[in-house]
Amino acid sequence: MNSQETTLEFKQKIEQIKELPTLPKMSKKLLSLQENPETSTQDLCNVIEFDPIITSQLLRHSNSAFFNTAKTMTSLHDAIMLIGFDATLNLALGLASARSFRVPSRGPVGMRAFWLHAIYSANLMQLLASKVPSSLQMRGGMAYLTGLLHNFGLVLLGHEFTYDFNRVNEALENDPKTGLLSVEKTLLGFHHFQVGSWLMRKWGLPKEIMVTVLEHHNENYRGDFAEYANLALIADRALFSYNIGDSDSEELPERILKNFQLSADQVTEYCEQIMEKSDLINAMVDNIVSH
Ligand SMILES: [Fe+2]
Ligand SMILES: [Fe+2]
Repeated sequence: MNSQETTLEFKQKIEQIKELPTLPKMSKKLLSLQENPETSTQDLCNVIEFDPIITSQLLRHSNSAFFNTAKTMTSLHDAIMLIGFDATLNLALGLASARSFRVPSRGPVGMRAFWLHAIYSANLMQLLASKVPSSLQMRGGMAYLTGLLHNFGLVLLGHEFTYDFNRVNEALENDPKTGLLSVEKTLLGFHHFQVGSWLMRKWGLPKEIMVTVLEHHNENYRGDFAEYANLALIADRALFSYNIGDSDSEELPERILKNFQLSADQVTEYCEQIMEKSDLINAMVDNIVSH
């Protein structure tokens, strides 16, 4: 086990969890579809259709200005064709996984802020992954998914430890300049990335996700699947200038940029490209949190 996961406060906290929400059936089915290269659009349709809320969220998303199409999507099948197979699967996976958690929506670590950060990170990480050297073998869909889930620890915190969650939310509301990491350290003695990666491990999610959840604030991380964790850190730091997310710095580490063969200016430019869609992304987040 990684040393980041093993603080005493963290262990004590985790032991207090009596009944952990299990990975929803739909997420399990979506993960098995993802692993099977033979999966068809119809297979994906069959899994998602069972959930009317996620189906309507995806339909609304496909009909939003995000896709700029004249045709109105009325069937899930058409919506998947428009959004794209991987993008639909990953988005549905993120939505389904967070479903069983009850977390307040307001405040700097509430569900609205969580989804806002998640969707911006996912889009930016996917774009960045398409720009890095192909020798790194990064997959755009996995980059999207790690972006979507990297801060999932906050969802678990809000659901299981409401008292702690409210204290963190209030502290950040009263003093936004103090970053999430230092508030967690002072008030809790453990971090969202610890509880988040613990949950991902319990749920048996892919290692890329588990590692990114644990290491996305660690600029020195060079272990397995470092490319996803490092890319999440770059995306977080780029989004910091737009007041999105939980990074406490906007500095883009030289070592990581060099590995990705990206300049700081390029990262800024790609981030600006995502921000040009901000009205649409914000509308999508409203669509998610209104359910
Ligand atoms: Fe984080
Ligand atoms: Fe983040």
